[in-house]
Amino acid sequence: MNTALNIALPKGRLGEKAYSLLKSSGFSCPALEDPGRKLIFENPEKNLRYFWVKPSDVAIYVERGAADLGIAGKDILLEYAPDVYELLDLGIGKCRMAVAGKENFREPTGQTLKVATKFPNITRNYYAEKCRDIDIIHLNGSIELAPILGLSHVIVDIVETGVTLRENKLQVLEQILPISARLIANTASYQFKEAAIGHLCRRLQEQKEGSL
Ligand code: PRP
Repeated sequence: MNTALNIALPKGRLGEKAYSLLKSSGFSCPALEDPGRKLIFENPEKNLRYFWVKPSDVAIYVERGAADLGIAGKDILLEYAPDVYELLDLGIGKCRMAVAGKENFREPTGQTLKVATKFPNITRNYYAEKCRDIDIIHLNGSIELAPILGLSHVIVDIVETGVTLRENKLQVLEQILPISARLIANTASYQFKEAAIGHLCRRLQEQKEGSL
């Protein structure tokens, strides 16, 4: 049986922050610090294995057991509702989900609101609660272009620093919810590797509290 803890990290800025938190909590992996184009990194001494995966895929690796643990944004967890355990709010990758539009935006009357987004489920749920009819335009990136080019009236997207909105003359119109990165676990691994997962979780929690 594979006893190593397999951890899926999201490629990019969030993954780097997450690894640095793991490292300072005692879960370093020197091979990962000089990655080249490799995607899998092991630390046999600590019985750890890390993978870099696309941020939106972390939950899939964890849900299906290819990884025991993963770091995923709350946005991904809400959007895909994977069957995983959410163990800890890591307090990193903080941003918000918001509705944004042009600076002079006026709600169109008598028309279905056209909303461009990478997050169709979050968007559908948000507007369903407000009983507002919408037409979702599902894009994969550069969402801010949609209202500028007349593809949509508004967007639902992540806002972190607000620079992308500002530089494209858009503004937040409504806040939907705050987002941060979560430690998630495969439900079977959580039972079979309970001691190792519990230890990692406690160390991360202590490290998080120490840095507050
Ligand atoms: C995200 C998001 C916004 C931007 C917000 O995009 O979709 O475009 O970051 O960040 P800011 O408020 O700090 O400017 P990402 O970088 O993931 O690129 P994408 O739009 O191509 O997905």
